[in-house]
Amino acid sequence: MPKDFSTMEDSNRSSNPTIHEVSDPARRLWLQGGLGLSLGALLSGCAAQSSGARAGGPPLMGFRGVPSSATDRVVVAPGYTATPLAPWGEPVGIAGQMPAFKFDASNSAAEQAVQMGMHHDGLNFYALDGSRRGLLAVNQEYTDEGLLHPDGQATWTAEKVRKSQAAHGITVIEIELQGSRWQMVRPSRYARRITATTPFAIGGPAAGHALMKTAADPAGGTVLGTIGNCASGKTPWGTYLSGEENWAGYFTAADVPTAHERRWGISKNTWNRWPEHDRRFDTVRNPNEPNRFGWVVEVDPGDPTSTPVKRTAIGRAAHEGAWVATTKDGRAVVYSGEDARFEYIYKFVSRDKIAAAGNGKTAAQANATLLDHGTLFVARFDADGSGRWLPVVHGSGPLTAANGFADQGEVVIKARQASDLLGATKMDRPEWLAIDERSGWVYCTLTNNSQRGAAGRPGVDAANPRANNTMGQIIRWKEQGDFSGESFQWNHLLLAGDPANPRAEAQGNIRGDMLAGPDTIAFDPRGLLWIGSDHSASGQGEFARMGNNALLACDPGTGEVRRFLVGPMNSELTGATWSPDGRTMFVNVQHPGSGSPRDGSNPRQFSNWPDFDLAGRPRSATLVIRKDDGGVIGT
Ligand code: FEO
Ligand code: CA
Ligand code: CA
Repeated sequence: MPKDFSTMEDSNRSSNPTIHEVSDPARRLWLQGGLGLSLGALLSGCAAQSSGARAGGPPLMGFRGVPSSATDRVVVAPGYTATPLAPWGEPVGIAGQMPAFKFDASNSAAEQAVQMGMHHDGLNFYALDGSRRGLLAVNQEYTDEGLLHPDGQATWTAEKVRKSQAAHGITVIEIELQGSRWQMVRPSRYARRITATTPFAIGGPAAGHALMKTAADPAGGTVLGTIGNCASGKTPWGTYLSGEENWAGYFTAADVPTAHERRWGISKNTWNRWPEHDRRFDTVRNPNEPNRFGWVVEVDPGDPTSTPVKRTAIGRAAHEGAWVATTKDGRAVVYSGEDARFEYIYKFVSRDKIAAAGNGKTAAQANATLLDHGTLFVARFDADGSGRWLPVVHGSGPLTAANGFADQGEVVIKARQASDLLGATKMDRPEWLAIDERSGWVYCTLTNNSQRGAAGRPGVDAANPRANNTMGQIIRWKEQGDFSGESFQWNHLLLAGDPANPRAEAQGNIRGDMLAGPDTIAFDPRGLLWIGSDHSASGQGEFARMGNNALLACDPGTGEVRRFLVGPMNSELTGATWSPDGRTMFVNVQHPGSGSPRDGSNPRQFSNWPDFDLAGRPRSATLVIRKDDGGVIGT
């Protein structure tokens, strides 16, 4: 999502006195060159040492790129068709509860609770029948109240808050290929909505912790709802991981927030006015309620009766999402980051091995507590191109009772404060991660950070090498040894930018089509890396030549970037997942038409995609992308 940091998080004022404050990117490049890498590779991408490239054979990228553009249409590469599916408001397919979407947004809260939520973000495909039938799990990241209700926030009622809460969360739908077209299967026994009021269990060291207890939940064991569900990952045991990202903005605090609240960006200002009608989100009355958000949540899409779980061992953050790699001995390594300025990148290494299905249990059931036991680490990127994973473990280094951490539960609840003390590297807003299991390289988008180098804020460092970083970069690392390794080597895949930008620091080093604000990244089944951009709404100012946000592909072997698809006005392309045969790609169009008036007076001001109904409004939706000749996407 596009973030308004003037009203939100931007709360890392810790000093982390490390080498980063004085490091010099040019020196790092020189040092890395001294380690045997070519300077050309370091400056312009990744040719020297990657990853998905195949020796010989056809190139990974075979499609013809599209130019940047700014229209209220989806523009896709020649020879491909992109069809919208399951837009906001579409009934998900729960038997007997399939109310039609009303184009004037007059559906009730109860109806919204069984319809697709708003603002689709991460998604994953779970095959039920090869590449012909499966489930889509979809994050519904946030709401645009000016579109959600006929008169937006011109009036504000408890029913509107309930509708807003019902439009958040996660959706599971069943879909199948009929001819060459994917359709929703309705009704479906898998169809499910998880909203901001659905009961969640708590797993890991924060379960039952004093800081998790509330008047409504004195045991600290059940949380109502998930919010800010941003990126998604699919586990090897068939579950869905979703990151709770911008939860802080849903709460209101006292005039003077506590230090803990300040560190997490919680203030009196609330984003969408839930606390006016739902006092659960008022921290004066419910001081511990925010501690129950900011987790990676795990859902079993194959079992609609299963209780979703907040996995606290992975640490609390403004989590973009979480992604799993597997060690050679079969343990799970969960990479995650938090999308906020000057925050951190984490990894969690499970104690136990991933269990196989059997004895009457599905793989999901056999691994029901796998992510509750293990070791959490936070990343430090050093100027010489190496890095360390620092244990975020109670009793380790400064994480002691004397420094305010009573136990591991408090460490994970206060993961930001713990990482500050450990001297982890403050990053330029880590968004998605993508793991290339074949090569061992792990990639992370650092979308932007215009405050880098500003007065009183951290300066550039080797990993975050540009001041006033409006364009973002993609960093990557390879672990020493296995994915569980505690040190790594890193470099940048690319620095995003526009080579014609008059500001040298905004030019970047992309080989191929320009982009800004890298956000979604995901590898397709062939090892092509797909990148979604998220720059300011539809190409204004410094982004004028970028046009609307786009979906691009990068051959990690050559570093070439090519634009594949451009979204409609004021949208962003989020999430990317494929049918196992690679012949269908699913990508979300999020927040088309964002920025229209909050009072609902002009819902079609910027976009009316995808329906173009004369009395309608723009709707986020999943794009189903097929090659017209039925071939593999990207070829
Ligand atoms: Fe939800 Fe960081 O984008
Ligand atoms: Ca973003
Ligand atoms: Ca994002």
